[in-house]
Amino acid sequence: MAAYDFKGKRALVTGGSRGIGKAVVKSLVDAGAEVFAVAKTQANLDKLKSEIPSVNIIAVDLADWETTRQTVEKVGNIDLLVNNAADLDQIRGMAAFVDVSKASLDKSLDVNLKAAFNVSQIVARDMIKRSCGGAIINMSSTAGLRPL
Ligand SMILES: NC(=O)c1ccc[n+]([C@@H]2O[C@H](COP(=O)([O-])OP(=O)(O)OC[C@H]3O[C@@H](n4cnc5c(N)ncnc54)[C@H](OP(=O)(O)O)[C@@H]3O)[C@@H](O)[C@H]2O)c1
Repeated sequence: MAAYDFKGKRALVTGGSRGIGKAVVKSLVDAGAEVFAVAKTQANLDKLKSEIPSVNIIAVDLADWETTRQTVEKVGNIDLLVNNAADLDQIRGMAAFVDVSKASLDKSLDVNLKAAFNVSQIVARDMIKRSCGGAIINMSSTAGLRPL
């Protein structure tokens, strides 16, 4: 039996196609939520859907502010948002601090920071409009406490 009951709740998980996000999606489905998994790569989402048929899959590049906005707005009411997506290859491939370029920094922040603001604004505005409460969870890292 699931530890939480999310029956009747709608949850959106960014980066839900694999890794930690996929585990979050699975837990929320097990707890009874209607779950929307967002990721960039259609093939990874198709694989998720084949494993968890009840999940709703949404392919969008979170680095694209406007397309993300239009796509997520179409999802409708969300009670729980998990901002989990990250482009870790981009972070791992970055030059040393003293050499990192503006272009590389922009590319990283578009997904790893700005996308969380973008999606949260859409979801929070709707929560405020509905006066319904809800939760927004931002996935972080131990690297935030112990910089590498
Ligand atoms: N793994 C760790 O050891 C660790 C440690 C500390 C913190 N974290 C944090 O935990 C979270 C998940 O990490 P993870 O290791 O599970 O990551 P992961 O396995 O690399 O998965 C990343 C997820 O983000 C999605 N994503 C990446 N770029 C995207 C974009 N431009 N548009 C839409 N979706 C995009 C990926 O979708 P695609 O399938 O389309 O690529 C995938 O679903 C991240 O926020 C990370 O910083 C992880």
